[in-house]
Amino acid sequence: MAVIDPLPSGIHVACIMDGNGRWARRRGLPRTDGHTAGEENLAEVVRHAAKRNVGWLTVFGFSTENWIRPRAEVRHILSLHKKLFGRIEELNANNVRVRWIGRPFDEPEAKTPSVVQKAIRQAIEDTAHNTGMVLTVAFDYGSRAEIVRAVNTVRRSHTSPSVEEISSATYLPQMPPVDLLIRTSGESRISNFLLWQIPSARIFFTERTWPDFDATEFDAALALLDTNPRT
Ligand code: FPP
Repeated sequence: MAVIDPLPSGIHVACIMDGNGRWARRRGLPRTDGHTAGEENLAEVVRHAAKRNVGWLTVFGFSTENWIRPRAEVRHILSLHKKLFGRIEELNANNVRVRWIGRPFDEPEAKTPSVVQKAIRQAIEDTAHNTGMVLTVAFDYGSRAEIVRAVNTVRRSHTSPSVEEISSATYLPQMPPVDLLIRTSGESRISNFLLWQIPSARIFFTERTWPDFDATEFDAALALLDTNPRT
């Protein structure tokens, strides 16, 4: 994959976008409407984050465990990924570069359908000239699988891999450690997201569901870093 050059300045924020289903249920709507609102909110959050001191925004778009959801829901979520990766005009307007992490498409266990693969490749290519924030979408992603793969990659040449070597074999080696991890919807869990990248991250848990996670909440999460500078 092409290197990220120049590397963005600014902090790394990661989001576990939880609660789309609950947002919909509370309104008497189908779960799919919650995901639609979630994708729209992500577009808002990207716009907002790009205006703040955020160099990296990494979002959990679809996990390796999410494939067991009802087929119609999965199909809808896939279409939303296509929609997100197709927002080229606004990503370019905000100087945002797209990246993806997940099980490499050519691995036997990988499940990313070819239409999503195509959308990912196209979004990466169409935003490659930007110089601002890197938006990384984790799709068909599981952190333990990422770590196991990285360790095995390094072990092909060594017997005892170092931290630096494992980092350099992760899905996106240039990704720096996460400064702030946000999880919405009242769940206080990490759910196999970026385990290697969060050794010293601040964690912001909020009761808000993802579609209701607005700019004010995002700024409240960022304030956690002002009050607790990393040592
Ligand atoms: C969590 O809500 C959401 C998901 C697992 C689906 C992925 C996220 C989105 C569709 C938001 C937009 C993002 C992209 C990248 C298109 P949930 O269904 O687990 O909610 P619940 O816990 O309330 O049921």
